[in-house]
Amino acid sequence: MTTDGMLALHTLRRGAPDALPLVLLHGFPLDHRMWLDVTDLLAGDPTVLAPDLPGFGTSPGGPDVAAAVGGTEPSVDVMADGVAATLHAAGVDRAVVAGLSMGGYVAMALVERHPDLVAGLALLDTRSTADDDGARTQRLRVADTVTAELSVEAVLGMRTALLGAGNRGTRLDLVERLDGWIRDQGPLGVAWAQRAMAARPDRTAVLAGYRGPAVVLVGDEDEVTPLEAARHMVGALAGAELVVVRGAGHMTSNESPEPVAAALTALLIRATAG
Ligand code: MLT
Repeated sequence: MTTDGMLALHTLRRGAPDALPLVLLHGFPLDHRMWLDVTDLLAGDPTVLAPDLPGFGTSPGGPDVAAAVGGTEPSVDVMADGVAATLHAAGVDRAVVAGLSMGGYVAMALVERHPDLVAGLALLDTRSTADDDGARTQRLRVADTVTAELSVEAVLGMRTALLGAGNRGTRLDLVERLDGWIRDQGPLGVAWAQRAMAARPDRTAVLAGYRGPAVVLVGDEDEVTPLEAARHMVGALAGAELVVVRGAGHMTSNESPEPVAAALTALLIRATAG
């Protein structure tokens, strides 16, 4: 779909049309479907927009979105600019923005690059710091592998690694759903996003300059972006609430959607009250 020359991201939209919207940004290597357990539990039928980030789900690929927003290299900034352009094209100029992991990196880029858009910020199972050299090298290796193999096999292990230790062997329904969502992604989109995440800067200082309502949420069994990463972000943000979800790993949205929905509902109420 093209809007004003911009390639719009495929976006799930539901709920009442006139309220302050909630924008949900998904993690890697998934798409907007990871949010559906949460959206079903949000109180008050809020307006929800859940885009597929560039190269995921049925959205245009990273290089096409980059070309449309004036970028060239894979970057989280391109993802954020693509989200902002998509929201503006949909008539949304202000929203509560929630991102899980990679979605959190995009949410922080939105705060820096499109501050007027962000009326409230929820950072779930994510981190504000950049990759260290080891993590960056590993990402680029994975990007090369999925590109060479034209397969997402190299990231399929995430179907269990993203879950808390307690859920890996017992929540086989979740393992199966994650497996299906990962297999549905295109390898070139996965590779582009890995390169984009490898290049992302430290955005802790961006959080320090943010003045709106915020919540930071993390599963206490998250091994990808653990509790100390959440505490680091809370330390930077002025007055952010920290929510620790017991018995959940990185995929709090699916391992334990009830407290996630409650935290997002509370943030929407705070942001709406202004
Ligand atoms: C995610 O869940 O989005 C990823 O674990 C993010 C990352 O690889 O840093």
